[in-house]
Amino acid sequence: MEQPPPDLSTHIAGMTLRNPVMTASGTFGYGGEFRELVDLRQLGAIIVKGLSLQPSPGNPPPRIVETPCGMLNAIGLENIGIAEFRSTRLKFLRKLGTPIIVNIYGQREADYVALAEIVDDEPDIAAIEVNISCPNVKAGGIAFGVDATAAADLTRRIRACTTKPLILKLSPNVTDITEIARAVEAEGADAVSLINTITGMVINVDTRRPKLANITGGLSGPAIRPVAVRMVWQVANAVAIPVIGIGGIMNHRDALEFLIAGASAIQVGTANFVNPGTTMEIIDGLEDFLRTHEISDINALIGSLETKTAG
Ligand SMILES: Cc1cc2nc3c(=O)[nH]c(=O)nc-3n(C[C@H](O)[C@H](O)[C@H](O)COP(=O)(O)O)c2cc1C
Repeated sequence: MEQPPPDLSTHIAGMTLRNPVMTASGTFGYGGEFRELVDLRQLGAIIVKGLSLQPSPGNPPPRIVETPCGMLNAIGLENIGIAEFRSTRLKFLRKLGTPIIVNIYGQREADYVALAEIVDDEPDIAAIEVNISCPNVKAGGIAFGVDATAAADLTRRIRACTTKPLILKLSPNVTDITEIARAVEAEGADAVSLINTITGMVINVDTRRPKLANITGGLSGPAIRPVAVRMVWQVANAVAIPVIGIGGIMNHRDALEFLIAGASAIQVGTANFVNPGTTMEIIDGLEDFLRTHEISDINALIGSLETKTAG
């Protein structure tokens, strides 16, 4: 007799996602750009490019350079601004029926609060992801993500002005990421996502100049995956709220590493530039894996890491 399909649905911060596969902010535009390449209705959730209060041109070029097994970017949060996003892009997105998560970024605490208030008024936005981890902007962003007190204060202020599920996106550029995770959990974060990019630098030895106009950039792609898996595992063991895993996920087996380490969902970033169909392939791959291993519910895999030695 034919077995029923395995259950891929997962629960995060009061949201039920049809599967644990989301798009990572900044690597999937505002969603609509991928409509010809990806069945957007199949995604667990769409996370859009980081939005600020005002439109921003980002940093001057060159802003991207390829590195072994990854890339270094210093886009600097170029975006159309929250008002333009609401009046143009959201019209298309709200028809999909896929949860839309807005990623916000501010230079000051007051910017984040104003953004959260605007998003709170928008019934078609499922959740807020707060970027406190961008290494490529002069002010704000990462300043809140590398200091536990600043991260806690910001979370408290945002929590006070929205009832939407709140996801804090953490930086790997810290000594102890569990300290930041615990600080935002204590102030009402509903989930944490990690990791954002790792600060890096590439030099052209002939000109002796940095390859990025910004000098440093954020490293992403498979090169960072083992660091990301390690941090997800540490954070999942340190907090009770759900963890969303990000970092170099190229296929379903990479995604499984994060789920087994304790992530309740994952985000696909740099892989979207290499193969825009990656998210769809991961969803299919996860389903096949569960069938092959006769696992009826993906939640059975979450946090199932075995660390005891056999015997
Ligand atoms: C070109 C580019 C732009 C990004 N823009 C954002 C952004 O606007 N907001 C944000 O929170 N993260 C941003 N990120 C970080 C990604 O969402 C993700 O955390 C990181 O790239 C690690 O995942 P990956 O290795 O799968 O790409 C960006 C990454 C890249 C490569």
